[in-house]
Amino acid sequence: SPHLKVALLGAGTVGSQVARVLLAEKDELAMRTGVILDLVGVAVRDVSAKRDVEIPSELLTTDADSVIDAADIVVELTGGIEPARTRILRALNAGTTVVTGNKALIAAHGRELHDAAAASGSQLSYEAAVAGAIPIVRPMRDSLAGDHVTRFLGIMNGTTNFILDQMDTTGAAFDDALAEAQELGYAEADPTADVEGHDAAAKAAVLASLAFHSTFTLDDVHCQGITSVTAEDVATAAEAGYVIKLLSVGERTEEGVNLRVNPVMIPRSHVLGGVRGAYNAVFVEAENAGSLMFYGQGAGGEPTASAVLGDLVSAARAIARGAEGIPLSDHAKLPAVSMDNV
Ligand code: HSE
Repeated sequence: SPHLKVALLGAGTVGSQVARVLLAEKDELAMRTGVILDLVGVAVRDVSAKRDVEIPSELLTTDADSVIDAADIVVELTGGIEPARTRILRALNAGTTVVTGNKALIAAHGRELHDAAAASGSQLSYEAAVAGAIPIVRPMRDSLAGDHVTRFLGIMNGTTNFILDQMDTTGAAFDDALAEAQELGYAEADPTADVEGHDAAAKAAVLASLAFHSTFTLDDVHCQGITSVTAEDVATAAEAGYVIKLLSVGERTEEGVNLRVNPVMIPRSHVLGGVRGAYNAVFVEAENAGSLMFYGQGAGGEPTASAVLGDLVSAARAIARGAEGIPLSDHAKLPAVSMDNV
């Protein structure tokens, strides 16, 4: 079989799990893709840092550019805007396939990255960027491509759902619940992005761009996090039969697309009220499909690695059969509407 060189950027919670599978399941992956995936380098900030998974030291390097230039597929799992953006552009401009889980980057610079991929005929995929293990990016981009999505809504941040769930069920304090979410590998490197709603807002912008065939960024999302939710709020909601959840919504209205993230009270008996821990759920409504529901683990190393590996397998298959990346729709940007009335 032919060989494809895979470079991994980042070996944190998710990256180390991707490395583990690439190294341990090489034969299985070769059977599924028709090519042998060779992990040729893992670019990290500190080669001696302690990791969840042991990575052979000869693979570890701080020289990201060299591994990018040597690779057929680059998997970016460092997070944040820079240097991730520059590195991904370097790969895409060279015609190299990129798989990323970087929602902040796709939300802020998705158009630029898609354009770079289109210009060089390379592929860019990011199933792991939204709702961890849940297949939602590809369904939104491909499965519903012949329909008209009218609305999506759901719980798209595992950390905040975990915190709110802990406050509700164990009476845990906000800070203790957050510390536990960090310990379990759910939170972003800077958990401010989780608790202020920015991570959920980035995911909403990424999904909205696919759902509504336009380009939306973080600036288009009205965003309120959970930092002002108190133990008392949670208890008061509970007494009335409600749970507080951080809800993300994208909907098409007469005036344009409305995007928002904010904490809401949901009846405990509602299906979203039953989404516990770091699980996520996304409802999608489309004109012809009607209602769809997606549910699963929205954060954590192994669940998110599953989505990354799915993209990697798809990308390897596409390269193996010589396919080009899927061109993106190029519609005019739809106006975002005022959030005053929501
Ligand atoms: N910090 C994110 C979350 C990770 O808690 O949902 C998954 O994107």
